[in-house]
Amino acid sequence: MAKTKTQFVCQNCGTIHTRWAGKCDGCGEWNTIIEDDPMGGIGSGPGKVPKKGRAVTLTTLSGETEEAPRIYTRIGELDRATGGGFVRGSAVLVGGDPGIGKSTLLMQAAAALSREGHRVIYVSGEEAVAQVRLRAQRLGAANTDVLLAAETNVEDILATLAEGKRPDLVIIDSIQTLWSDTADSAPGTVTQVRTGVQAMIRFAKQTGAAMVLVGHVTKEGQIAGPRVVEHMVDAVLYFEGDRGHHYRILRTVKNRFGPTDEIGVFEMSDKGLREVSNPSELFLGERNDKAPGAAVFAGMEGTRPVLVEVQALVAPTSLGTARRAIVGWDSARLSMILAVLEAHCGVRLGQHDVYLNVAGGYRISEPAADLAVAAALVSSLANTPLPAECVYFGEVSLSGAVRPVSQTAQRLKEAEKLGFSNAVLPSSSAEMPKGSKSRWNEIDGLPDLVVMIAGSAKNLGKPAEED
Ligand code: TYD
Ligand code: MG
Repeated sequence: MAKTKTQFVCQNCGTIHTRWAGKCDGCGEWNTIIEDDPMGGIGSGPGKVPKKGRAVTLTTLSGETEEAPRIYTRIGELDRATGGGFVRGSAVLVGGDPGIGKSTLLMQAAAALSREGHRVIYVSGEEAVAQVRLRAQRLGAANTDVLLAAETNVEDILATLAEGKRPDLVIIDSIQTLWSDTADSAPGTVTQVRTGVQAMIRFAKQTGAAMVLVGHVTKEGQIAGPRVVEHMVDAVLYFEGDRGHHYRILRTVKNRFGPTDEIGVFEMSDKGLREVSNPSELFLGERNDKAPGAAVFAGMEGTRPVLVEVQALVAPTSLGTARRAIVGWDSARLSMILAVLEAHCGVRLGQHDVYLNVAGGYRISEPAADLAVAAALVSSLANTPLPAECVYFGEVSLSGAVRPVSQTAQRLKEAEKLGFSNAVLPSSSAEMPKGSKSRWNEIDGLPDLVVMIAGSAKNLGKPAEED
C-alpha cells in the first residue's frame, strides 16, 4: 500500500512545499511552513477505496435560470455591497482588521433579518455568549429572535445547524477559530480553516441558507492564513477603516452574484454602525477651502461617485534627501507625478519634502486621482489656494498628457450636486452632461494645469539664490 505522503504548507499564503524550509518561496515569510496532511485529513489514509464515478447530465448555456433568491437586510449600505442582499445557498466572506467592527455589523444585520421574520443563527467562536449579548444590548438587538451559540467545533456546529427549522442566515465569527475532528492539524492552520469553511459552504449549498463567514486580515491585508478561502466563497467583502476615524467602508472585492468595486459606507457610533448614504458630504465635511495644497477629487467607487479632498504639503527640505510621506494613496504613483512635474512642467521638487494625505483616512485606488494630486502639489508649492468650487480628475501619463477617465458624467453630476460649479478635467472626455451651467476647463497636459494654478512654471520650486 502506498505510504501517505506528507506535504508542507505555508500558513500565510498556502504555498505547498515538498520539504520543510525556514522561509516560504511563495510569500517570503519566515517560520510559516508546517507539516500538513495533503487530503486535509478527509478521505485519506489506508483502507479508502475510490468510488466509481457517476455520469451527470450535460446541459447547454442557453437554458432558463432563475435569479438567485436573496434576503435583504434593509441596511441599505450592506445590501449595496452584497449586490442586493445575501444570496441563499451562497457563502460570503467578510474580512477586516481586528476591532474594525465586523461583529458589530453582522450582529446588526442578524437583528435586522430576524425582525423581518428570518431564522438567523450567530455562531461566535471568539466571544462568550455573555459578551455577544452585551454587544447586542448596546445595538438594540437584544429583543430579537437571533439564535446564539458559542462554539468552534465544525461537527458540533453542523449538528446544531441541522436541528430544528432550517436557518435563513448563518454567521460564523470567525473562520480562524473553526476546527474539525476530521483534520489532523492544529486549530488555526490552513488545513483546519479550509476544512471548516468547506463544511460550512457545503451546508449552505445543501440547505439554501446564506452563510456569512468572518475572517481576520493579516498585516499584509490578506485574510489571515489561507488565501484559499477567498477562492472558495462566492463573495468577499472587506471592512476597512482608520481607527482614528469613525467611518468604515465595506468594499466588495469579489462577487459571483453582483458587481465588484461597490462600497457601503458606515459611521461607528456608540450605538453601533450607522449608514452614511452620502459619503461625499462626510469626506468634505471639515474642509478648509482657503488653504493652499487642497484639491477636491471627483472619484468613483463602483457605480457611486465620491468626492474627497487631497491635501499636499510641499516644503524645502532641511535634510540631505527629501522626504516623501503619503497616506491614502499609492507611493509609486506619487513618485510618478513628481517625476512628470519635473520633467515636463519645469517644476523643481527634488529639494522639497512632499507630504500627501487623503482627507478623513479614505483610500483612493483610482489613477483618475492623478490630476487632483498634481493640483494639490502645485498649489502647495506655489502657495496659492485652489478655487474653492472646483473639482479635479484625470489620469496623467508619463509624457505629461492628461488622459480621459471613465464615468465623466457621473463625476460632474455629483460635483454639481454638492455645489461645485467648476471642474478641471481631461479634454476629449466623452459623455459630458448636457445643459449644465457649470464651467469646465478641459486640459490636454499637465503643463496647462501648472500654468492655470501658478500663472507660470517659471522658478516654481527653484531655490531663492538661483533666481
Ligand atoms: P467589533 O465588531 O467587535 O470588531 P471586530 O469584530 O471586527 O473585531 O467592534 C469593535 C470596536 O467597535 C470596539 O473597539 C468598540 C467599537 N464599538 C463602538 O464604537 N460602538 C458600538 O456600538 C459597538 C458595538 C462597538
Ligand atoms: Mg469580532
